[in-house]
Amino acid sequence: MRRAVYPGSFDPMTMGHLDLVGRAAALFDELVLAVLHNPLKRPLFTVEERMALLKESVRGYDNVRVDQFQGLLVDYVRTHQISVIIRGVREVSDFENELRMAQMNRHLYSGAETVLLLTDPRYGYISSTLVKDVAMHGGSVRGLVPEPVERALASKFPPRTE
Ligand code: PNS
Repeated sequence: MRRAVYPGSFDPMTMGHLDLVGRAAALFDELVLAVLHNPLKRPLFTVEERMALLKESVRGYDNVRVDQFQGLLVDYVRTHQISVIIRGVREVSDFENELRMAQMNRHLYSGAETVLLLTDPRYGYISSTLVKDVAMHGGSVRGLVPEPVERALASKFPPRTE
């Protein structure tokens, strides 16, 4: 069985993430979405909230499941018999960062390949950070995030009504 992991902060999941999930799920027998639990960061959504939003958003995919991890990604990959790490690339600066991470992961553990998928141009400008900024200031995030995430953001930051 070919099992891949798509790791990330997913704080929160965007349409770019969701598009990548669909494309990666078609390439592998099983795709695990692994939410990073980083005690040093102060995310908007807790790990449990992020996992719940991911689960709701990917409900249509039979071979996708959601998990969390702490510590090194390669340790998670090794213990869960995962052979591929999926990451998305929107632009050149993403690529530079992903290249460094992939090479560091390979240095630490050579049993998994990193596969970079290019973001669909429709979603190239979307990031979790920008989405939170827009929502925080009362703007609409419709079409930028899956519907469950839109509702969760609206409950944290009520949208402007005018
Ligand atoms: O969604 P993000 O924040 O861009 O995801 C980054 C992530 C979670 C893939 C990366 O920070 C990570 O793998 N962190 C785990 C710690 C680790 O393994 N670090 C060394 C490898 S570069």
